[in-house]
Amino acid sequence: MNTDARQQEQSVGVAPGWWTEAVIYQIYPRSFADSDGDGIGDLPGITARLGHLAELGVDAVWLSPFYPSPQADAGYDVADYRDVDPLFGSLADADRLIAEARAKGLKVIVDLVPNHTSSAHRWFRAAVAAAPGSPERARYIFRDGLGPDGAEPPNDWQSVFGGPAWTRLVEPDGRPGQWYLHLFDTAQPDLNWDNPEIRAEFLDVLRFWLDRGVDGFRVDVAHGLIKQADLANWEEPQEILSGNEADKPRPPMWDQDGVHEVYREWRRVLDSYDGDRILVAEAWVEPAERIARYVRPDEMHQAFNFEYLLAAWTAPAQYAVITRSLEATDAVGAPTTWVLSNHDVIRHASRLGLSAKGGRPNGIGIGDPQPDAALGLRRGRAATLLMLALPGSAYLYQGEELGLPEHTTLPDESRQDPTWERSGHTQRGRDGCRVPIPWEADAPSYGFGPADASWLPQPPLWAEYALDRQRGVPGSTYETYRTALRLRREHALGRGTLEWLSSGDEVLSFRNGGLTVLTNFGTAAVPPPDGDLLHSSAPLDADGRVPTDVTVWVRHS
Ligand code: NOJ
Repeated sequence: MNTDARQQEQSVGVAPGWWTEAVIYQIYPRSFADSDGDGIGDLPGITARLGHLAELGVDAVWLSPFYPSPQADAGYDVADYRDVDPLFGSLADADRLIAEARAKGLKVIVDLVPNHTSSAHRWFRAAVAAAPGSPERARYIFRDGLGPDGAEPPNDWQSVFGGPAWTRLVEPDGRPGQWYLHLFDTAQPDLNWDNPEIRAEFLDVLRFWLDRGVDGFRVDVAHGLIKQADLANWEEPQEILSGNEADKPRPPMWDQDGVHEVYREWRRVLDSYDGDRILVAEAWVEPAERIARYVRPDEMHQAFNFEYLLAAWTAPAQYAVITRSLEATDAVGAPTTWVLSNHDVIRHASRLGLSAKGGRPNGIGIGDPQPDAALGLRRGRAATLLMLALPGSAYLYQGEELGLPEHTTLPDESRQDPTWERSGHTQRGRDGCRVPIPWEADAPSYGFGPADASWLPQPPLWAEYALDRQRGVPGSTYETYRTALRLRREHALGRGTLEWLSSGDEVLSFRNGGLTVLTNFGTAAVPPPDGDLLHSSAPLDADGRVPTDVTVWVRHS
């Protein structure tokens, strides 16, 4: 073991607030719990299962969108920001969910989608019906096409989901007309954030949900609202997972400086409410210093650390990303927000079981190289214990506490992510991490709902991951998460200080308060740190050493 001479002190020098150290659980409403048996999860289903989250020991939940929507992008195409889609329930159900969560000591964060509306939003319908140059069109990004008859799109931007980022309208008189910008699906037209009416509307939407008692907002595509004014050509594809590398020019549609003024204004609204209401940025931005700009003291509270999520499972890569992330957020006085899985990426219990070669696929299907399930779960648990020992806040994605893998053999005909169609069947997309989760091994739909219905097919191996197979079983993934969350709270790890002890090629270890944490990335087992073993992601070997791909938490003397 290479004991590193560089003992690096990191600290979260932030004003205390629940969010600085919170563990926040992402609920994907379609796939969490279905109360009425239609195969799609809903708000009453969530409310009925809140006890699970209290027992698990998280501090808050973030709900992906449940607003009225044609569901062209699983609800990220919002038709009305102030209501609930009947698919998921009613506003009264949302109120009940918020109240019940509060009664259980859980905070509630809702998703806000400001970059685009649904094409079914009343504003877009009005824009389509109105003339070029009208105030209705000025709410979106409409342009005339290029070429003699305007048949070419206004620029070469590509949609994140594949294909061009522009669609041409048929004008009310039946002739081909202007084009509108959609960085995502055709059914998700981008709003024009240079228009004061849009800004005013979203301030009001914030107040609508704050008045109903929510504790914050996860802000979708937070780096996309403002586009470079000239809409300059950009030859690169627009992948959702790609950021702006430090040495490359900034793409004209992402991370423009103008977005920060929007969040400063939102922050003022949140600060005018009682309690600690928060904003968390979904911004696929690199490097760490750029993402830290979103969490300056007068802007957002948190920003997902996607550089961490994407980092390779090696000691040097993990050391580098953890160090860089803490330095960047320390510099602006914010906590770091760690995350390993969400509804847009391959679940980490499978991602970490993929061979290092071949990059990171956007979905996995039959015929693709398959992850090593046992290796993925072993590494996944080690990664989670490493993450939950770091100072700052952490996000968990529903089902990861069960060790759920990606569904990697989903039949292509059941895919619903628009990526699959728009990429011409070259990118499988994100359905594999969105499959309804298993609660009871022997119940219909594994307890997801009262019927055997599930909007995406659940694989037969879901039975072995069901909550009722793991609850109370020492060493199960569920009990491993629960113990980690209890110890994290008891030892105040979220508001602790990280001090590196070792950052060699094979082993990482650090101190956080009274705990020493060690992860073995090497091929040989290593001795644990001195002290009492409090927790480990898998059993130690017969000689009491820490095997490969295992994290231990030790109370040092
Ligand atoms: C990010 C969301 O997480 C993703 O699911 C969605 O497709 C895009 N934003 C577009 O809203």
